[in-house]
Amino acid sequence: MNTPTLVIQDVFKIYKEGDVETVALRGANLTVERGEFVAIQGRSGSGKSTLMNLIGGLAIVSAGRIIINETDLSRLNEGQRAAFRRQHVGIVFQSDNLIPFLTASENVVLPMTLEGHENAHRRAASLLTEIGLAERLHHRPNQLSGGERQRVAIAVALANEPDLLLADELTGELDSVTSDSIMALLKRLNVERGLTLIVVTHNPTVAARAGRQVRISDGQLSEEMAVAHA
Ligand SMILES: Nc1ncnc2c1ncn2[C@@H]1O[C@H](COP(=O)(O)OP(=O)(O)OP(=O)(O)O)[C@@H](O)[C@H]1O
Ligand SMILES: [Mg+2]
Repeated sequence: MNTPTLVIQDVFKIYKEGDVETVALRGANLTVERGEFVAIQGRSGSGKSTLMNLIGGLAIVSAGRIIINETDLSRLNEGQRAAFRRQHVGIVFQSDNLIPFLTASENVVLPMTLEGHENAHRRAASLLTEIGLAERLHHRPNQLSGGERQRVAIAVALANEPDLLLADELTGELDSVTSDSIMALLKRLNVERGLTLIVVTHNPTVAARAGRQVRISDGQLSEEMAVAHA
């Protein structure tokens, strides 16, 4: 049996703002095997982004453990977590976070440069081409449509060939045709490259593409019943 890509073990996340404490996660558990495609659904404020930030190492758990490829993230300091993320985890946020003064291609090149990859420009061009943006390599984010920016953000997230891709509501603001084509793209990467995918979504059509559906409520994760596909 291969080791799972991700293990979430009794995770708590408590935010403290002055006197106010928000318990966003209270004992969350989940194991994701290599190559799985998991959709996470839950009400607004249920802790989905919190969970994604913890898995991505952008924040740390209040208690419990998050283990990616056998590495316990809580054992890493901030700098080590950033390096780990760059090497192993791709993240696409709720709103794209491209660097505005860099072109599409330069945005994709940047994480590769930080890892000292050779042929970064050639790889960026081929990733963007694969994602349907061959004609947009030298456009800056403000010269691209919302759907195109999301696709560039996916290419950035894939730049260093992550083991795990996290997508937080990335199709939320797109029309259904664009959103469908982006989900089809992710599904293809999942099937063809065995990319492990965790997608947060409010959209049942998006969730239906996943192999597994997980619900988050009361700070905990639970398996949804399997959905029959037509
Ligand atoms: N930095 C923070 N400081 C304090 N409270 C926070 C912080 N981030 C999130 N929260 C609170 O934690 C809870 C979970 O927030 P989170 O952003 O994870 O929800 P979500 O499921 O992603 O919601 P949405 O669907 O609206 O994006 C909410 O009650 C939110 O107000
Ligand atoms: Mg959110």
